[in-house]
Amino acid sequence: MMAGTSQTAHWSSRWTFIMAAVGSAVGLGNIWKFPYEAGQGGGGAFVLIYLFFVFVIGTPVLVAELSLGRRGQKSPIGSMAKIAKEEGRSPLWSLIGWSGVLGAVIVLSFYSVIGGWTLSYMFDAFAGTFSGMDAAAAGAHFGGLLTNEYAVIGWHAAFMGLTMFIVARGVEGGLEKAVTYLMPALFALLIGLAIYSSIAGDLAATVDFLFKPDFSKLTFDVMLQALGQSFFSLSLALGSIMTYGAYMTRDVNIGKSAVIIASADTGVAIMAGMMIFPIVFAYGLVPGQGPGLIFATLPIAFGQMSGGAFIGGAFFFLLVVAAITSSISLLEPSVSYITEKTGANRRKVALMIGGFIFTMGILSGLSQGDNPVADISIFGRSILDAKDFLTNNIMMPIGGMFSAIFVGWFVSRKNMMEELAMEDGTFRIWYFLVRFICPVAIGAVFVSIIYNTVTG
Ligand code: TRP
Repeated sequence: MMAGTSQTAHWSSRWTFIMAAVGSAVGLGNIWKFPYEAGQGGGGAFVLIYLFFVFVIGTPVLVAELSLGRRGQKSPIGSMAKIAKEEGRSPLWSLIGWSGVLGAVIVLSFYSVIGGWTLSYMFDAFAGTFSGMDAAAAGAHFGGLLTNEYAVIGWHAAFMGLTMFIVARGVEGGLEKAVTYLMPALFALLIGLAIYSSIAGDLAATVDFLFKPDFSKLTFDVMLQALGQSFFSLSLALGSIMTYGAYMTRDVNIGKSAVIIASADTGVAIMAGMMIFPIVFAYGLVPGQGPGLIFATLPIAFGQMSGGAFIGGAFFFLLVVAAITSSISLLEPSVSYITEKTGANRRKVALMIGGFIFTMGILSGLSQGDNPVADISIFGRSILDAKDFLTNNIMMPIGGMFSAIFVGWFVSRKNMMEELAMEDGTFRIWYFLVRFICPVAIGAVFVSIIYNTVTG
C-alpha cells in the first residue's frame, strides 16, 4: 500500500513503445484537425511552416519530455519532483508535471466528446444513413447529433468506457495490447483509403492544394495555429509523452525514437490530407470550411460514391482507432499519478478518474449545436472551445517552454548526455535548440497568443 513501492511497468520492446507513442501522437489532431487547419491556412504554406515547427521545435521538446520521463521512472508529477531534487533544484519544477496531468484531464474531457461523434458516425456510415445526402442534409445530420443530448452523452460514455477499459488493464495488458492490434489496422486502412481516394477523387487538385504554397495566406495567426497544432499533434506538454517515457527501457534510443515518432505523425497527417481532399475536390466541396470538414462535408461524398457505406464506415472506424490510441495516453498520466500516490488498485483508479472525466465532459458535449448549454460563454467561447483554448494555447506552450528550459538549463549537461547517449554533434544541435530556440520561439508565440486574445 505504500506509495513508491510499486514497480513501474515497462514496454516489452522498443517496437511496442514506438507504436504506443505513435498511437498517442496520431489522433483526431491528424485526421480531423490537420486537414481543416491546412485547408483554412492556405494549404501548402501551412504545411511547410508546420513541418518546420514539428522538426525544429516539436521534436527537440519531444526528446526532452521522453528523457524526463525515463529518468524519473514515475508519473509526470513524480518524475519532475524526483529529477528536480536530484539536480538540487526547486520543488516548484514539479508544477510542469501538475500542469501536464491536469491538462490531459481537461483535454480528454472534450476529446472524448469528439471521439463519441466519430463512433456515432461510424455506425451511421455503415448503416447507409448518408446515402443520397446533399450539403443541407449532411449539415442537418451533424446539427441533429449535436442537439440530441442523449446521443452526445451516450456516445461520449461509450468512448470513455473503451478508454477506461484499456487503461484499467495496465501498460502491458492494456495499452500495449491495444496498440499492437490497432496501429497496424490504422496504417492499413489509411493507406487503403488514401489509394482509393487518389484514384477515385481529384488527386491533381489535392497535390496543388497541399504542396503548392500560397504564401499570401501565411498570416501571423496561421503561424500560431501551426505551432499549436504541432504540439497538439505530437502529444507534447500534457504528460502523455513523459508518462510513456517512464515506461521506456534504458536500451531504447530516445533521439532516434523521437524522429521516428515525429515523422510517422507528420506522415499520417499528410496522408490524411491525401485521403480527404481528393474526395472534397472531386465532389466540389469546400476545403477551407473548418471543423465541420469531416462531419458535415465528407458524408455528402460518402453518400454519393458507390460503396460509400463501406468506404465511409472504414473512414470513421479509422478515426475511432486513431482517437482511442490517443485517449488512452490522455488518461494514463492521471491514473499513473494517483496509483503512485495512493498505491490503490489501477482498475479502481482508472474507473474513478475516467468517471470523473466523463462527468466533466458532459457540459462540453452539450455546449455544441443548438443546446441551451451552448449559450454559456467563457470569454466568448463555448465550454468545449474554452477548454481547447486553455489547453492548446496556454497550458501547452507554457508546459513545453518550461520543459525545454528545465532540461536545457536546470538539469546538468552530463546527465542529459548520459540519458540520450547521442553522437556528439547531434547532441550539440539538440542542446542548442532546446536551450535557446525552443524557449524563445514558444515564448514568442505564447506572448502573441495572449496579446491577440487581450486586444481581440
Ligand atoms: N496527439 C493526439 C492527436 O493528435 C492528441 C493527444 C494525445 C494529445 N495526448 C496528448 C495532445 C497530449 C496534447 C497533449 O489527436
